[in-house]
Amino acid sequence: MVRKEIENLLNVALKKLGINGKALVSFSSLPELCDYQSNSIFSLAKQNGKNPIELANQILNNLDHSLYFNFEVAKPAFINIKLTQEGYNHFAQILFEDSRCGVAKISNQKVLLDYGGANVAKALHVGHLRSPIIGEALKRLYSFLGEQVISDVHLGDWGLQMGLTELQLYQDGKLDYYFTGDGEEPVLTLEMLNTAYPKASARKNEDENFKKMADEWTLKIQNKEQPYFKIYQKIREVSVKEIKKHYSELGAEFDLWLGESDADEYIDKALDIIDKKGLSYISDGAVVVDVAEEGENIPIPKKSPDEIQRYKNPMPPAILKKYNGGVLYATTDIATILMRNTEIKGLNRIEYIVDARQKNHFIQVFRVCKKAGISPKDQVLLHIGYGTMNGSDGKPFKTRSGDTIKLEDIIQMLIDKASEKLKSNGVQFDRKLALQIGVAAMKFGDLSNNVGKDYVFDLDKFLSFEGKTGPYLQYTVCRINSILNKTTDKGGKIDIECEEEQQIIKNILKLNSSYEIAYKEKSLNSLCLATYDLAASFSTFYNNHKILTEKDSNKRNSYISLLKLVKKALTQALSTLAIDVPEKM
Ligand code: ARG
Repeated sequence: MVRKEIENLLNVALKKLGINGKALVSFSSLPELCDYQSNSIFSLAKQNGKNPIELANQILNNLDHSLYFNFEVAKPAFINIKLTQEGYNHFAQILFEDSRCGVAKISNQKVLLDYGGANVAKALHVGHLRSPIIGEALKRLYSFLGEQVISDVHLGDWGLQMGLTELQLYQDGKLDYYFTGDGEEPVLTLEMLNTAYPKASARKNEDENFKKMADEWTLKIQNKEQPYFKIYQKIREVSVKEIKKHYSELGAEFDLWLGESDADEYIDKALDIIDKKGLSYISDGAVVVDVAEEGENIPIPKKSPDEIQRYKNPMPPAILKKYNGGVLYATTDIATILMRNTEIKGLNRIEYIVDARQKNHFIQVFRVCKKAGISPKDQVLLHIGYGTMNGSDGKPFKTRSGDTIKLEDIIQMLIDKASEKLKSNGVQFDRKLALQIGVAAMKFGDLSNNVGKDYVFDLDKFLSFEGKTGPYLQYTVCRINSILNKTTDKGGKIDIECEEEQQIIKNILKLNSSYEIAYKEKSLNSLCLATYDLAASFSTFYNNHKILTEKDSNKRNSYISLLKLVKKALTQALSTLAIDVPEKM
């Protein structure tokens, strides 16, 4: 908002001077010196055959008068800009009155976001944690900035785990009723699934026959043969109930609760399109599509003739059908893109928030869809790959015994640790508050990192009530709430007088531009940092000023309005990050 206004002033002057090109303005890199700066003059002068410092001075002489800014030229040809007292008051009032606190809408694209990705019949584990956290925040960011966003949880519900789980339950004598009709229909519980799948998954690696049979069972389910399909539906139901509970605790909401299985009717259609384009062929009984591009699959010279051929930068063909006719992960993803483009019109982008280690899978899927025209040319297909959540040893976060941690256990851990913290701070709390704080700690700890990077999951650090943490931000809002609750003053015209207040306004303006940065980077770290900076500048102000006991009623009411403004800006940012703020803590 302010940057645009300064740019306009500069550009009017440039036009008067007959200079081609436009000046850009950024936040100052030397805050002691100025608030904003333009670094464009040097190159504009060069392009127009002028002396840089002379041009900078000419621009200053040709500026329309402005109440809100002071301009200064600095060597070699910078223009430094400072907000005036009137400027601070003017912009503070605009921010205060605007329902979005001055954040502009910047896009109206239609986007489908694929995140969550929990697998039916398998317990959710730590590897699935980042997807709902990042996905939910990106969804809120995109819609806040004006886009039409549809979120789809895309459950993993059409793969080998189905056959494995069902076969194991059968062999454990739990499914006799469905095959013999004897006795009563069993109640399938989550515990049964949670034992069956890991057992079967371990067996498939050792027992070739078992694996083959599980493949057969998976195929029967995919072919909707009874009673296999009916049992599958029961398993899915139990599982999805549990998945919904966990996602709701994490504050992830989905418009569509679809899964791989929902794209089933599009599988043959997709395979047909691919076949008609002459893209697929049979290899070892399987249906495959070559997707490698130049610079990929470069043969590495063999050391001996009987060594198997290896490749540099390998990009294997996408396998769409197995030897036995079963379909795979890539197939359901391709069919899902066909389904989305058939049932939802005008999607500008489809974005996947999935573990970075699935990079090649998405390259294969996207290339097949583009080649086959299943995704229109101008549609963006994007994999936003997130890094691994590591333990303090720098390795993927595991339990002490080396097992992957179940999401359920993580949530319990968040609640326990947050409870400890609240207890030691002498705060009254219940499970809901502990969960709210624990989840905020984890989310902010996660989102403050660049999405693509691995990070260390250090819950003790994340849970601190001081520093760059979720609880600190929640606490800041609660503190403002408690001040506002103690007064009947309604607030009045904002008068920015001291440096601490100026800093708050500047930090709100910075926070506002961090939305666009986050949008462009598809990562929320800049938004997290700017939110923290605003909270920190509020704390500094708060520590140095008496608010409620201020005698001058104009001043007191100006403070109250400023507090309301900070609260609105913080709440808006936290809600974009999908971090809940409790009333009190
Ligand atoms: N179920 C998958 C997994 O656990 C994640 C799904 C991601 N989304 C997708 N469209 N492939 O790895």
